[in-house]
Amino acid sequence: MKRRLSSAMKAIVVREFGGLEVMKVENDVAVPPIGNKQVLLKVEVSGVNPVDTYIRGGQYSRLPDLPYVPGVDGAGFVEKVGPSVTRFKPGDRVFCCNIGRWGTLAEFSSVDESFVFPLPPSLTFQQGAALGIPYFTALRALFQKAGAKHGERLLIHGASGAVGLAAVQIAKAHGLEVVGTAGTEAGLKLVKQAGADSVLNHRQRGYLDSLTAGDKFDVILEMLANVNLGVDLPLMKSHGRTVVVGSRGTVTINPRDLMGSETCVMGVALATSTLSEWEEMGTKVDEGIKAGWISPVIDKVYTLSQAREAHNDIIHSTGAKGNLVVQVRE
Ligand SMILES: NC(=O)c1ccc[n+]([C@@H]2O[C@H](COP(=O)([O-])OP(=O)(O)OC[C@H]3O[C@@H](n4cnc5c(N)ncnc54)[C@H](OP(=O)(O)O)[C@@H]3O)[C@@H](O)[C@H]2O)c1
Repeated sequence: MKRRLSSAMKAIVVREFGGLEVMKVENDVAVPPIGNKQVLLKVEVSGVNPVDTYIRGGQYSRLPDLPYVPGVDGAGFVEKVGPSVTRFKPGDRVFCCNIGRWGTLAEFSSVDESFVFPLPPSLTFQQGAALGIPYFTALRALFQKAGAKHGERLLIHGASGAVGLAAVQIAKAHGLEVVGTAGTEAGLKLVKQAGADSVLNHRQRGYLDSLTAGDKFDVILEMLANVNLGVDLPLMKSHGRTVVVGSRGTVTINPRDLMGSETCVMGVALATSTLSEWEEMGTKVDEGIKAGWISPVIDKVYTLSQAREAHNDIIHSTGAKGNLVVQVRE
């Protein structure tokens, strides 16, 4: 007999933007309907990213209608597909980056086919849930924005977190020389294990002093621009590119640092990627998983009822060691 999909599911529901307290576990949430070109994902694991907290707090440029279910990244099985879906069928292992639609902190999530990608058996669902925002952002920053090339020297300022470790793995696989920073011994060790050629501790006073004129960088990925942008600019080689990935405030820079060396600073916003850019990044991620150079590092796993704790930790805990994920089905 064909299994029938129950029409209610367990999910985290947010009915007003605000602090952690607005995240509530509800047991009778309607399973989302799917459109023509959508996939119903049976979510095993949801990935947690800083942006999830900005959205929940109502401090993001594009906000969902209320109530909404948080969670952009996720991994699990395809439960059902819309009539025009061509790349997936029920039972496929997949991961998603449900950008602009959210909803992975739930047992089921509807996702546009363009934001669903195959999850090879070499990666677990926890690793799958850590692929979306971190790896696609790292790829976009490195190649679609900075145009990083084989042999170039890269500084990842904040390499121990989700985007940073993804960038280390990707950059090393593409022949860049990588210097990564972290704020703890465990973070530094992880960045080195991910392949960085050398590491620096951004919590140590004067940690950049050892860099000489010959140690400058072609590309800098900056995870905390409000703290570091002013010091990044003079660290660039001639025609260097600094990509602002993360920033949580304002900063003073000296624009003259950009002039003589004709360097530039640019921002990255994953959500603005075109469909063909998503496809290009998806192909790269698939290639990296199959070749083995993409392997997400999971820092901590939470249950659905601990989702608030995960939202707290992604912003307030120090000493990142990869990704935080929520095991939706236990
Ligand atoms: N623009 C976009 O499209 C986009 C996409 C994804 C993420 N982001 C943003 O990028 C940032 C990183 O995201 P994530 O997911 O990697 O976060 P994460 O996992 O929480 O990692 C944060 C990273 O920042 C590092 N850090 C802390 N203090 C630092 C300092 N003074 N200098 C340099 N690095 C420092 C942390 O190192 P320690 O903990 O070891 O100190 C860690 O490596 C966040 O602000 C996020 O919102 C933007």
